[in-house]
Amino acid sequence: MEWLFPLANLEDSSYPEFIAEVGALAMGSSTYEWMVRNAAKIAAETGSLWPYTQPAWVFTSRTLSAIEGADIRFVKGDVHPVHEEMRAAAGTKNIWIVGGGDLAGQFHDAGLLDELIVQIGSVTLGRGKQLFPRRVLSPILRLTSVRQMGAGMVELRYEVGK
Ligand SMILES: NC(=O)c1ccc[n+]([C@@H]2O[C@H](COP(=O)([O-])OP(=O)(O)OC[C@H]3O[C@@H](n4cnc5c(N)ncnc54)[C@H](OP(=O)(O)O)[C@@H]3O)[C@@H](O)[C@H]2O)c1
Repeated sequence: MEWLFPLANLEDSSYPEFIAEVGALAMGSSTYEWMVRNAAKIAAETGSLWPYTQPAWVFTSRTLSAIEGADIRFVKGDVHPVHEEMRAAAGTKNIWIVGGGDLAGQFHDAGLLDELIVQIGSVTLGRGKQLFPRRVLSPILRLTSVRQMGAGMVELRYEVGK
């Protein structure tokens, strides 16, 4: 992820207004373990080892260590019951599926994904994981906004048809 940080300044991006509206978030274990391994870098960027104040759900079939002071629950399997817990915790705020793409896909399979927010950085890596490993052909994703963030990033928002 070293390529990501130089591309945009957090404060100039949509992130501050986005995260202010998030009431609960979920991620897979690869994303979580990356954050654990890079806690020092995250602290330098955000001022905290764990950058979220919202309750977080981490999907894993393994036993992982929690980060001290972080509001985290480890869960596995079907996303439906987890979504119910997240909905109750988030109140009127949004639920953010941080990633990876397959976890977002599991919420999509369950009919629980409303919006895809995709940020494209102005670099190429030559290989990598799929952004969203699902076929979404019809109804198409409806583009609702395009926002340029400096010369290094663009954000696309799509409404997911039901
Ligand atoms: N740029 C961004 O905004 C952004 C955001 C998120 C991620 N990422 C990147 O995307 C990549 C994500 O990696 P990834 O595709 O491997 O995704 P991931 O979702 O972070 O982790 C996948 C792992 O989570 C666990 N998992 C997923 N669903 C589960 C379920 N229903 N029940 C139990 N466990 C479940 C499984 O591991 P175990 O069961 O073995 O624990 C699975 O192998 C990383 O490189 C990350 O840095 C980027």
